[in-house]
Amino acid sequence: MAPIVSIAHLKDYVGQEVTVRGWLYDRTDKGRLQFLKVRDGSGIAQAVAFQKELPAEVFEAARTVTQESSLIVTGVVRADNRAPGFPGGYEIGIHDLKIVQLAQEYPISPKEHGVEFLMDNRHLWVRSSRQWAILRIRGALINAIRTWLDDHDYLLVDTPIITPAAGESTTELFEIDYFDDKAYLAQTGQLYNEANMASFGKVYCFGPTFRAEKSKTRRHLAEFWMVEPEMAWFSLEDLMDMEQDFISHIVQRILDKHRAELQLLERDTTYLERVLPPFPRISYDEAVERLNKLADAEPDPEKQRELRIEWGGDFGSPHETALTQQFDRPVFVYHYPTAVKAFYMQPVEGRPEVCRSVDLLAPEGYGEITGGSERIYDLELLEQRVRHIGINPDNYRWYLDLRRYGAVPHAGFGLGVERTLAWVCGLPHIRETTPYARTLNRNYP
Ligand code: 4AD
Ligand code: MG
Repeated sequence: MAPIVSIAHLKDYVGQEVTVRGWLYDRTDKGRLQFLKVRDGSGIAQAVAFQKELPAEVFEAARTVTQESSLIVTGVVRADNRAPGFPGGYEIGIHDLKIVQLAQEYPISPKEHGVEFLMDNRHLWVRSSRQWAILRIRGALINAIRTWLDDHDYLLVDTPIITPAAGESTTELFEIDYFDDKAYLAQTGQLYNEANMASFGKVYCFGPTFRAEKSKTRRHLAEFWMVEPEMAWFSLEDLMDMEQDFISHIVQRILDKHRAELQLLERDTTYLERVLPPFPRISYDEAVERLNKLADAEPDPEKQRELRIEWGGDFGSPHETALTQQFDRPVFVYHYPTAVKAFYMQPVEGRPEVCRSVDLLAPEGYGEITGGSERIYDLELLEQRVRHIGINPDNYRWYLDLRRYGAVPHAGFGLGVERTLAWVCGLPHIRETTPYARTLNRNYP
């Protein structure tokens, strides 16, 4: 009996008979020759049925098998540089073919489809090679994130998804009924990270987070995954040092291990190759100055209006894009106005209108991929901020406690997996970065 082999390992079986189990990706009919593209999850390989060499019913199966039928192919592996597939270079000369289930007419044919149609059929679209490549890189990205953190003595400590109060902003909360009480889906694990940080020093949480943001953009999801490291004794400068090492590592690792998938996506990797420390660092003040200079130089009045920014305003996507175009790698923007950032951020000494926050903006128009800061660790100041923004201090008793029992300077940040993946893969929209996107107008499939 031929061994059952995965397509990724065909290279180890040249000249031998093997069995591959999978699905029909595509078929080319050349009369007496049938070229079947078979995928099995690990890759795609061409299997060739030659009429002269096969019993009539086997050739007939190869000639009539429909797209996405499940099947079992047995045959001899041949090395051939021209053989298409992923990784390519090997094909199977069919000896036998069993159809496990003959698929009905498959909705996603090789012709072009509209994106809403594809999103409605996301449960099938995940089989298409582009989507397959993106989701493989997603898995690798998550693995690289965890590996770097684990190797650098950060402890994974999970934080709850069901929470009694807002973590980030009170306007973007998904409310749920919690045994006749109100609760919310977590926007961030940060507040709990801060408690865990006081036990373990360096921690991270990594899970789904939820924002009921009414934004319909190519960067916003209602459910997204975020990794959030939180470190005792870290200053804003320590935070930027760590972030640039961490992000350079994960990007370089994807380039190392997943170049084939990036090629399949036709990703130009020029900018990714340059993702190495140090990343440029500019203050919010300098960013505003740069943007207004760009606006001054802009002949198109429409674009000029988009770029113009008054001190105190938050950056929109045209601002982030224009700023990042001035650098060849991700750029840190630090010391944002306190008023546009979360309540827990440490104000700058002697200049409380700005805070010790930092966002990392990715090149090529991808915008903010991380947001972080030093945290307020003084009890009175934090109580003042809680009162100032008008959230109920009762809900934050435990969080304020952390400032009563051994408070230390500390800092942390959150990296959005989907935004990072969109950038690494060079995707025009965030919806393809997650298996089942949840957006303002979509909760299906
Ligand atoms: O800047 P944000 O809101 O920061 C926090 O939640 C902090 N509590 C993190 C921390 O300091 N521990 O979100 C962090 C990152 C953003 O930079 C972005 O990459 C991603 O999360 N993000 C989103 N991704 C997709 N869709 C959305 N609606 C997102 N909102 C934030
Ligand atoms: Mg942010």
